Amino acid sequence: MGAEASGLADPLTAADFRARKGGEPLVCITAYDAPQARLAERAGVDAILVGDSLGDTTLGYTRRVEVSVDDIVHHTAAVARATTRPLIIADLPFMSYVTVEDALRHSARCIQAGGAGAMKLEGGAEVAEITAGLVERGIPVMAHVGLTPQSLDALSGSKVRGANLSGAQRVVDGARAQADAGAFAIVLEYVPMRLAAAITERMPIPTIGIGAGPSCDGEIQVIYDLLGFHHGTPHRHTHVYAEIADQTEAALRAYTRDVRAKTFPTESHGFKMRRGVLDRLSFD
Ligand code: KIV
Repeated sequence: MGAEASGLADPLTAADFRARKGGEPLVCITAYDAPQARLAERAGVDAILVGDSLGDTTLGYTRRVEVSVDDIVHHTAAVARATTRPLIIADLPFMSYVTVEDALRHSARCIQAGGAGAMKLEGGAEVAEITAGLVERGIPVMAHVGLTPQSLDALSGSKVRGANLSGAQRVVDGARAQADAGAFAIVLEYVPMRLAAAITERMPIPTIGIGAGPSCDGEIQVIYDLLGFHHGTPHRHTHVYAEIADQTEAALRAYTRDVRAKTFPTESHGFKMRRGVLDRLSFD
């Protein structure tokens, strides 16, 4: 039996991940808790990101910037406890990496208490120094350019980054600066397909797309988007593989109906006690 089949495959490291540039596409997914992570591992994903999308998908925050390092550490630990093989990447939240010292301190918590194998941060040239500082101290960094939801300007206008010359140059310069700073991979979010293809061809590290078309070295999606947890029309860049939200709601409606109608639970869901015990009980 092979290592994969026996379930004893070695954990994937950031170096393994990087070495897959140009090879079989790298499959990444977000997950925020142990059951999701366990299923993602069983499905064979390469990496699990505990993204700051945690805030809006799971914690009920209305703004990404509310996510704290404590939130990320707590949920990264849940994901790490449930998995052995995928690379676990923890997202550095808004304003947690203003200086290299901040980034090191917060990354250390995600790695020591959370079990992360790598960190992700948003931004290009302006945070290349932070990436270099982490990499120098042995912490692998996944970069993230294009649409960066921690920047408040993401809330205005088109989400696509790099459709015109100045925007495209900014994305390219950001990707280049991050690769030069030592990032092991780079997320391209909401970047035009041809720009993503050109960056993928020219960068030495894997590009991981989300809304970046089919030419990247891998893909990342938010787990809830794949499972039908959308408000209104699903995002163009995603594919709904299962309508789990609808199924969950239908199941909970049926449960509510059955409890009220006294058709659940029935005797078949209960437990018996020894004969005669009830008669000898005192309720006074
Ligand atoms: O926070 C997140 O989930 C992300 C991915 C969408 C890349 O940053």
